[in-house]
Amino acid sequence: NYMKDDNVSQETKNLITSLPSDKDFMGYGLYNYKGCWYYPNTLQAVLDVQKHFKPRDTDIILASLPKGGTTWLKSLIFAVVHREKYRGTPQTHPLLLQNPHDLVPFLEVELYANSQIPDLAKYSSPMIFSTHMHLQALREATTKACKTVYVCRGIKDTFVSGWHYRNMLHRTKMDQATFELMFDAYCRGVLLYGPYWEHVLSYWKGSLEAKENVLFMKYEEIIEEPRVQVKRLAEFLECPFTKEEEESGSVEEILKLCSLRNLSNLEVNKNGTTRIGVDSQVFFRKGEVGDWKNHLTPQMAKTFDEIIDYRLGDSGLIF
Ligand code: A3P
Repeated sequence: NYMKDDNVSQETKNLITSLPSDKDFMGYGLYNYKGCWYYPNTLQAVLDVQKHFKPRDTDIILASLPKGGTTWLKSLIFAVVHREKYRGTPQTHPLLLQNPHDLVPFLEVELYANSQIPDLAKYSSPMIFSTHMHLQALREATTKACKTVYVCRGIKDTFVSGWHYRNMLHRTKMDQATFELMFDAYCRGVLLYGPYWEHVLSYWKGSLEAKENVLFMKYEEIIEEPRVQVKRLAEFLECPFTKEEEESGSVEEILKLCSLRNLSNLEVNKNGTTRIGVDSQVFFRKGEVGDWKNHLTPQMAKTFDEIIDYRLGDSGLIF
């Protein structure tokens, strides 16, 4: 129900009337608040996060665009941060029993959705939270001291993954016309949490300005050199792997635990439903780099490349 407006306060309704508006590719209204597109309910939740979310300095925030590698990073961060706790009893590891989304809750999608104000005192720190908000929006909450990990994925695979996600979610194959409408909307940046390039840029710049606070990771790099990237993650989170851990294969164990193959074959992820009511299995598909080649026409791929070149070409960010 996040596309709707049934959880919006009068104050937010007034705000919405003053915002630029457009429609998503399915015809639902989107509103641009400070450079980012939201559905009314999402905007309400984001405003509530900004007003009420007060993490502890030791808490960790994972930020991403939908389909950018959120599930993988949720599991990796959880596994890295809590590795000591389950060292002697790996068979009781929470990642074997719960979906990563239930271990690392979303702020605006779960905790602050539906006008809820959660009591964070019940969580022990470090708690890991997740968000799809862009960095400026996140900074309006009191999160400055928290370590923030961002995972970025190339626009073509992110888009194609989003297409499959929609199909799996609705258990139907949407037609080619819808694929093209979704593509056009993506190119215009008119989609929830979009434009893509503004989102990526906010965290890219943030990571350049404050390296100790914002870690910019790339999905493709984690696929390419998983050990290096997981060690980089642990260092950033101030829990680097010791020499003994490295020698005993702790990095590999974490990679194996969090691998798509392992997670997607667990009973909880095959047949379970996450707390936000989504079938757990829809978060796992191929997990490959370059699957866009099977779905985008050469012209579509070229258009995406040109957009990225135009929007991010002089940012220093290389895809
Ligand atoms: P594909 O649709 O390309 O396969 P998100 O977690 O942000 O919703 O992104 C989902 C994408 O990440 C999907 O990509 C999914 O298959 C992939 N993914 C999920 N879990 C993963 C894991 N443990 N390792 C690698 N990729 C994973």
